[in-house]
Amino acid sequence: MKLLTQTLCLSLALALSHAHHQAGHQEGGHEGHGHTVGVMLDRCDGLEMDAVAVNEEGIPYFFKGDHVFKGFHGKAELSNQSFAELEDHQHLGHVDAAFRMHFEDRPTEHDHIFLFLDTKVFSYYKHMLEKGFPKDISEVFPGIPDHLDAAVVCPAPECEEDTVIFFKGDDIYHYNVKTKKVEEKMFEGMPNCTSAFRFMEHYYCFHGHQFSKFDPKTGDVHGRYPKEARDYFMKCSKFGDTTDHTERERCSHVHLDAITSDDAGNIYAFRGHHFLEQDAGNDTWSADTIESEFKELHSEVDAVFSYENHLYMISAG
Ligand SMILES: *[C@@H]1O[C@H](CO)[C@@H](O)[C@H](O)[C@H]1NC(C)=O
Ligand SMILES: *[C@@H]1O[C@H](CO)[C@@H](O)[C@H](O)[C@H]1NC(C)=O
Ligand SMILES: *[C@@H]1O[C@H](CO)[C@@H](O)[C@H](O)[C@H]1NC(C)=O
Repeated sequence: MKLLTQTLCLSLALALSHAHHQAGHQEGGHEGHGHTVGVMLDRCDGLEMDAVAVNEEGIPYFFKGDHVFKGFHGKAELSNQSFAELEDHQHLGHVDAAFRMHFEDRPTEHDHIFLFLDTKVFSYYKHMLEKGFPKDISEVFPGIPDHLDAAVVCPAPECEEDTVIFFKGDDIYHYNVKTKKVEEKMFEGMPNCTSAFRFMEHYYCFHGHQFSKFDPKTGDVHGRYPKEARDYFMKCSKFGDTTDHTERERCSHVHLDAITSDDAGNIYAFRGHHFLEQDAGNDTWSADTIESEFKELHSEVDAVFSYENHLYMISAG
């Protein structure tokens, strides 16, 4: 790790799949989804997502209408395939906001996925609805309004204390999960979010098919935003190639940009223009430049994970 931290430095690019990347690659076909009925949604059409949250394994779920897109590519499935009880509450409409509670010192809620619909909140753990739910939002999160637009979890020290940030119109609520105190904030200069997402310690506000990266304490947006969500958070064949991925932050302190292992147990660590690979069962690290191994990626990576044999790399200034 020392070698890595000395040689490499931070930041951005685009989501792409390493294993099966090819121009015009058909979306979908890789996910083990069941039948999908009704209107086929295509995430590459520029959909405005209703809500975004990562699941227990860190895989993002993008909610739209009664569907959910899992991961960064592939077709939508019905939300009620993953969250069965939503079927019994269809009158509540679509998922307004969602987040995964992620505080290890709160074992009764840790890794629970909270879905907000209308006036109700659903708490799921490993795709099972927790007993007693759905409940009124006002009961579980006193001081937080109904009909939310977005929610995102913000652990200390990224927020001053362990917090969930709720968004409704241009109203911002910082909800302290320990004291249950609510602090209203002004996030001037930030668009109204229709969904919000914490991914690899960065905070993203989605609005329309665009997104902005923001500071969760102040709402400040640094850098050139908004950006096109399809360039970064979805693998769409028409998008990505034209991405201007030249914005670059120099890192002021040394840390890894991203580390992941793939399904075969190989470990990849990224920093700046370099990555280290450690093959499964071999404790020797080999270093190479990102460009030589991941041809489409010419800049730096700040998040990476593997999902169904694909290696995804994310970076967004
Ligand atoms: C999910 O919802 C669809 C349409 O709303 C319905 O046809 C289907 O039976 C539901 N599936 C489950 C597993 O509840
Ligand atoms: C943001 O939300 C507020 C309501 O809270 C609304 O008055 C305003 O028009 C919205 N702005 C945009 C750009 O939609
Ligand atoms: C481990 O990886 C190094 C570098 O790629 C290689 O030289 C070595 O032969 C490997 N060792 C084993 C036991 O596979």
